[in-house]
Amino acid sequence: MRRFIVIGHRVATSGDFNLNDLCGSAGRLDILLRCINSSFFLSHAIRRDVELFLILKGEPHPPRTIRVNGREIKYLNPDERSTAALIRNALLKKLDGEVRSTPGIYISKRNFEDVIEEVAKTQLIYLKEDGENIKDVKIKDNATFVLSDDRNLNEEEESILEKYNAHKVSLGPLDLHTDHCIILVHNEMDRRDKLHEDKIIQFESTDFGKVVIDGRTYGDVLIANNEVVPRNKGFLRRVFGTSHKISEEEIERLLEGDVEVIVIGTGQSGVLFVDSQIIEKIKSANVELVVAKTPEAIKLFNSLAKEKKVNALIHTTC
Ligand SMILES: C[S@@+](CC[C@H](N)C(=O)[O-])C[C@H]1O[C@@H](n2cnc3c(N)ncnc32)[C@H](O)[C@@H]1O
Repeated sequence: MRRFIVIGHRVATSGDFNLNDLCGSAGRLDILLRCINSSFFLSHAIRRDVELFLILKGEPHPPRTIRVNGREIKYLNPDERSTAALIRNALLKKLDGEVRSTPGIYISKRNFEDVIEEVAKTQLIYLKEDGENIKDVKIKDNATFVLSDDRNLNEEEESILEKYNAHKVSLGPLDLHTDHCIILVHNEMDRRDKLHEDKIIQFESTDFGKVVIDGRTYGDVLIANNEVVPRNKGFLRRVFGTSHKISEEEIERLLEGDVEVIVIGTGQSGVLFVDSQIIEKIKSANVELVVAKTPEAIKLFNSLAKEKKVNALIHTTC
């Protein structure tokens, strides 16, 4: 899930603002409404895999956090006035913890740090002109992007981001509108997702001594960084006297790139030996390890590779 957090420094925190004056009496609520549009609207569709937190810091009851969840959202239209009415309804709710106002719109008294703490296990990205170029940054699917409204984040807000090790990332040299930044992030991430989908490796079948991958037949293989490499069984036999063991070099390759899961297929009847040192090394690199007999392992690889960066070592004989 992609997440955005936007701080509205002056946005009203009571529901008695004038829907005809969203820039004035509502304290630049118009900026946050445009952020809702940019976060969720596609042409004739809603982005379901998105969550947006709006931190409202204006008078009279700051702070308020509005959470908008793309999977549940209903009654969202592209015109800002009708979305402003949804926000006003939320602000009129009596609060006790986080309260659902309408489907997909929640409100609470949480402040910026509470929200950052909640998402701290995701990759935190602070969007700022002078950050590292987004093109050079590896970004995980579950990243959280933090932006400000028409004012920069203040020192206290920046120090909270520092405390949680947020990575400062730039979308370009110019100072852009917040809602435009959200569109640019979506575009960058959509392109990366598409590239990843286009290159996803998928196994077709396995039988004794072979696997078929995307129409080609191989013996034992190692998959790393979206590349299929035959295992060097001659080398393994020379070193270990058998290809039923995994070499140091193979483990190094399996840990390449920003791998999230390693799948090991232990053969048709599970003879490949995965020793405890290998398991320890993979776990200490914070990489998930899946070990299964090859017919099961290739199925697991196929489904995991659609969601995560997966490397694999597949033994094909016994
Ligand atoms: C309109 S700008 C903030 C106010 C402005 N910098 C000022 O002069 O007070 C809105 C927000 O969008 C994000 N932003 C704008 N331009 C950006 C860029 N080139 N790269 C990354 N983030 C940017 C930042 O989070 C920024 O706080």
